[in-house]
Amino acid sequence: MQVAIDGPASAGKSTVAKITAKKLSFVYIDTGAMYRACTVIARDNKIDYGDEDAILKAIDKTGIEFKAVNGEQKVYAGNKDISLEIRTPEISANVSQVSALAGVRKKMVSLQRKMAGQTNVIMDGRDIGTTVLPNAEVKIFLVASAHSRAQRRLLDLKQRGIHSDKTVDEIEKDIANRDYKDSHRKISPLKKASDAIKIDTTNMTIDQVVDTILKKIKEKAKKL
Ligand code: CDP
Ligand code: CDP
Repeated sequence: MQVAIDGPASAGKSTVAKITAKKLSFVYIDTGAMYRACTVIARDNKIDYGDEDAILKAIDKTGIEFKAVNGEQKVYAGNKDISLEIRTPEISANVSQVSALAGVRKKMVSLQRKMAGQTNVIMDGRDIGTTVLPNAEVKIFLVASAHSRAQRRLLDLKQRGIHSDKTVDEIEKDIANRDYKDSHRKISPLKKASDAIKIDTTNMTIDQVVDTILKKIKEKAKKL
């Protein structure tokens, strides 16, 4: 079974996807981490974020790898663990420019489909239900108010020990800016698939969201 979870920044996609996958013993794939890794590679090689050819070459040369270390999904650029680096506000501010590049998307989508393979999978991102896994049996589109998403992001950075001087209002602006870019790009923009179930998580706990998604998956599994 394939489960696609899409939605705007900080709607809770990766948190609930990870927990749901663990409960069901499904493989979890964080596609945002891939675009973030491409952005780290561009920055570390001092490449302009719009220079598609140079970024593609650098990705090939460096290599992006996902490894499970003590049950945690770690992201590597070559031998370097960039799991924390990919979450910094600097990378968040530039990732939408890199993810809008046609060649980068083509490369990542092909990798994502390969990773999904034939196993039970939960994949989260922006275009999973519309483009990457259009035949996914369950499609979820998570939303939440911009303000609560900004509060969640700020807390998330603190919990990860990532320093940020930004106020919640500044983070809300950053998030809105990124959502605008992600929704308005030419290739596979952020969009609810017509057959996706929309869940507004503004006033929901993580457990409530997970339970709602688990119920949808179980309902679907009964019909298969
Ligand atoms: O965690 P957060 O919602 O902040 O973002 P993410 O899921 O880590 O994704 C980071 C960025 O990667 C997004 O803002 C998009 O620009 C891009 N992305 C994408 O274009 N397509 C995907 N399937 C996943 C992420
Ligand atoms: O992956 P995405 O950017 O959509 O969001 P996330 O990184 O999973 O969630 C951002 C933060 O919101 C995390 O710290 C979650 O613990 C928190 N969260 C929450 O407080 N309530 C929810 N219903 C979902 C997530």
